[in-house]
Amino acid sequence: MMQCTDIHDRFLFRLISKKAFLYTEMVTTGAIIHGKCLEQLNFNREIEHPVAVQLGGSDPTDLAICSKICSSLGYDEINLNIGCPSERVQKGSFGACLMQDPELVKDCIVAMQEATSIPITIKCRIGVNDRDDINFLNEFVAKILNPSLKTIIVHARVAILTGLTPRQNRQIPPLKYENVYQLKHEFPGLEVVINGGIKDVDDSLEHLNKVDGVMLGRSPYDNPMIVSNVDSKIFNEIDLGKDRQTVLREYLQYCLHQLDQGHPLSRTLKHIFGLNRGLKNAKSFRKLILETIQKNNLEVTQEDLISMV
Ligand SMILES: Cc1cc2nc3c(=O)[nH]c(=O)nc-3n(C[C@H](O)[C@H](O)[C@H](O)COP(=O)(O)O)c2cc1C
Repeated sequence: MMQCTDIHDRFLFRLISKKAFLYTEMVTTGAIIHGKCLEQLNFNREIEHPVAVQLGGSDPTDLAICSKICSSLGYDEINLNIGCPSERVQKGSFGACLMQDPELVKDCIVAMQEATSIPITIKCRIGVNDRDDINFLNEFVAKILNPSLKTIIVHARVAILTGLTPRQNRQIPPLKYENVYQLKHEFPGLEVVINGGIKDVDDSLEHLNKVDGVMLGRSPYDNPMIVSNVDSKIFNEIDLGKDRQTVLREYLQYCLHQLDQGHPLSRTLKHIFGLNRGLKNAKSFRKLILETIQKNNLEVTQEDLISMV
């Protein structure tokens, strides 16, 4: 998620779950090729796996070049964004508008697959504009599928390409989970991952009766501790078992270390607002985070912050 799932946020999530599959923000091929976002592609190799990078682009040659770069960096998967409806992205002819051009999507996927041996996946919507019927998604997938494309993530809403902001496009079109379930029914050999409006692990387990995977965006970002039982409930492994205070203590140590390396508190502390989600002192917690960023004095406030979660 843009402005959210950066390297710091992913570090925070790895303090809570060792198994959840993490995704970067979308990085455009243009930015990579022009060398503008090398920092954005960075990740913590020792702790962050499994982690996927998401690319935005529609030129097969550029996507192949970027796939090669991302693969050499050590990512576990490369995901192509075919779901972003923003105007800026449409101007670049990528994101959700690509669902209207399955031939090009097919060429992009093949070019990426030929450039690397790590899995290439896509993330799309159920359709675009007035095409929110089951046939549209099934036909789109039938046209782009090849034997090496094994996983598709579907945000269970249409993307409306004119008149809605990206935020509205995540709220206004209704969720149609049934279309995603039908996709799995139509293509039983394909790994289908469902996304959109899924709140927590229990909610995920319901969907897992019908599809192979779930992707959660806003709810864990707004309340990171909801992934604390992912390892046991989804992967049958032992949870890390840390409480909020332990997670925050470890993350604040990381923030101090990052500060020494030149990464400002504004970049690292912005991810902790949700750590006291559901507690009474949300307002004062928020205020103290903002003050800490402003005064650049985490060493002074860290124990107070920890006591508030
Ligand atoms: C701030 C923000 C940034 C997002 N950036 C991306 C992105 O870079 N790539 C992407 O595929 N989806 C992006 N999304 C969409 C989410 O990944 C997800 O598909 C959508 O929010 C629905 O899932 P949710 O209800 O679990 O949040 C973003 C969503 C938000 C709120």
